[in-house]
Amino acid sequence: MTLELRDFITRRKRELNALILAHFYQLPEIQDIADYVGDSLQLARQAAETEADVIVFCGVSFMAESAKILSPDKMVLLPEIKAGCAMADMVTAEDLRSLKEKHPGAVVVCYVNSMAAVKAESDICCTSANAVNVVKSIPQDKTVIFAPDRNLGAYIQSQTGRKMILWEGCCPVHDELNGEEVREQMRLYPGAKVVVHPECAPDVIDLADAVRSTAGILNYVKNSPDKEFIIGTEEGFIYTLQKNCPDKVFHLARQQFRCEDMKLTTLEKLAVSLEQLQYQIEVPEDIRQRAYLTLERMLKIN
Ligand code: 13P
Ligand code: SF4
Repeated sequence: MTLELRDFITRRKRELNALILAHFYQLPEIQDIADYVGDSLQLARQAAETEADVIVFCGVSFMAESAKILSPDKMVLLPEIKAGCAMADMVTAEDLRSLKEKHPGAVVVCYVNSMAAVKAESDICCTSANAVNVVKSIPQDKTVIFAPDRNLGAYIQSQTGRKMILWEGCCPVHDELNGEEVREQMRLYPGAKVVVHPECAPDVIDLADAVRSTAGILNYVKNSPDKEFIIGTEEGFIYTLQKNCPDKVFHLARQQFRCEDMKLTTLEKLAVSLEQLQYQIEVPEDIRQRAYLTLERMLKIN
């Protein structure tokens, strides 16, 4: 059955000249069949540069929306329409507009984990991989509003020394991890290096040897002489790490570290998506054009 599904997906993908993109948190079988697996920044770049006619995004809705914003002439499919991001839902364009009115002249930086209408209301986007450089690119005399992740915002502040107005949002999956849980893992695995995602809370960040985006964590462990790691990010990523570094050992920072939305995309749904061309992502053109500028400014920064 699985073999048939894989064959169907591969054949249909060729017929459609489709590109399958998958985030690192996707199920192993989805990562294995994807043309490209990466973090939000890498996937956005792939979506912007591809010559495929169809982009199938195995991830969550804001990622597929970003692909559509960057490549409006392509058909962008999200195999599971319910796959969303709890953090992206914590800010609306209307609320962000109200905050901007209180701070005229402020520069709004929005984390890529936000919906198109919020990006359209912002000046520049960032991902966890380039957030520090994006904020460093803003003139010192400007007030900066950062939305929606207060944890990533706090981390950027600690790295740049720059005070920003932080939106009160977070990723419930990463925010749930606490320092005591990490300390317990450190007691169990005393030689292990602690590497965490910047969506984690400050008490976790304080314990880490390194704070990186998912692609950054992969690079860090690949290039590290160390052999054992405590990983503070979503559990699907352990599959990627083990596949790339089979001689190293990885422990999740907490037992349950799962983004349910990232697990909604299955091989079956991917096959149906390719068969029936569903679910097609659309972004109203006026919003898309403004959101495009926000993403484009980000993509010019390393
Ligand atoms: P990355 O850009 O680091 O892959 O993070 C995306 C995300 O949703 C983390 O929760
Ligand atoms: Fe959103 Fe958190 Fe899931 Fe990432 S892990 S997609 S930030 S809810």
